[in-house]
Amino acid sequence: MSATPAEVAYLARTRSFTRRGGRMPPRHQAAYDQLADTYVIDVPREGGSTTVAPSYVLDPVAVFGRRAPLVVEVGAGSGDALIAGAQALPETDFVALEVWRPGIGQCLSRLVDEPLPNVRFVEADAEVALATMLAPGSVEEVWTYFPDPWPKRRQQHRRIVGPEFADTVCRVLRPGGVWRLATDIDDYAAHMRKVLDAHEGLELISTERAPLRPVTRFERKGTAVGRTITDLAYRRL
Ligand SMILES: C[S@@+](CC[C@H](N)C(=O)[O-])C[C@H]1O[C@@H](n2cnc3c(N)ncnc32)[C@H](O)[C@@H]1O
Repeated sequence: MSATPAEVAYLARTRSFTRRGGRMPPRHQAAYDQLADTYVIDVPREGGSTTVAPSYVLDPVAVFGRRAPLVVEVGAGSGDALIAGAQALPETDFVALEVWRPGIGQCLSRLVDEPLPNVRFVEADAEVALATMLAPGSVEEVWTYFPDPWPKRRQQHRRIVGPEFADTVCRVLRPGGVWRLATDIDDYAAHMRKVLDAHEGLELISTERAPLRPVTRFERKGTAVGRTITDLAYRRL
């Protein structure tokens, strides 16, 4: 079967991720099978399995059954920050955008015994999804913690944080809303500062550790080899 024009266009794009599949441990797969219908939003696709059809706009009130502040986590991994945030802020709703299904499965395995009604996942490329899937100004906070670092010079164009993605994040944040980022790669931190300090829609408000950000595997790995963790928070002007 040949690719559709939308698939060709999507596959030609530089993406911030390569790995996708991978077998889940049976416990995570079982949790995914049991809970995906509840927690993973079945979005329409156009152009591939990590896309979201541009005509689709998520209705948080329909999804969560209430009107509440919305936090979007980009690349939630196995969901440490997501779960900590959702537990700490039951009056806030959380949507995690993640391309790596085993990460979603691992996170769901933690929700089997402790359901979190204020959490949902969209299995999608955040660069595509955030551009169209949420109404402008509808998000309270965006979290991007330990994005894939792409440390080699020739790979750096794959980094998700760049001017275009900053525009995309600004589109969904409400004025006064906050984009929180963290990385253990100094060069990526400097890149974030350069790009986001120069963005006319954003203002740096903090370099302190994000209040609800737990220590994750990525942070532990970074500190174990002597890296400095940089936290940044930008307010949408
Ligand atoms: C290094 S991990 C960090 C995970 C988590 N934020 C943490 O701190 O533990 C980066 C995650 O971002 C995901 N990711 C990379 N590019 C993405 C994209 N364009 N859209 C959604 N998720 C993405 C990867 O699949 C991976 O799970």
